[in-house]
Amino acid sequence: MGRRLPLGPAIERGPAVTITVDGRAVRAHAGETVAAALLAEGVLATRTTVGGAPRGVFCGMGVCFDCLAVIDGVPNTRTCMTYVRDGMDVRLQDGLTPAGS
Ligand code: FES
Repeated sequence: MGRRLPLGPAIERGPAVTITVDGRAVRAHAGETVAAALLAEGVLATRTTVGGAPRGVFCGMGVCFDCLAVIDGVPNTRTCMTYVRDGMDVRLQDGLTPAGS
């Protein structure tokens, strides 16, 4: 369960799916955003700026563009606006490219 809220009468959770984050398998749940899955895993910074400063989820609603990552090969994708999908490939972003490339 990690950092997710405990299930209760007001909380439902979708079926488990597996995404990869920089090649590491991470369990998530259908209906979660990539941002939620990353936060549940303790990943706070989804990218660094061109100058090297870490950035992560700030507004959580698609406005600030701080939560960008490379998702299924597409850079600059807002993790807070993207729902997880089984087999999704998420790469933390370094400047304008995937980290480590
Ligand atoms: S957290 Fe602001 S756009 Fe995603």
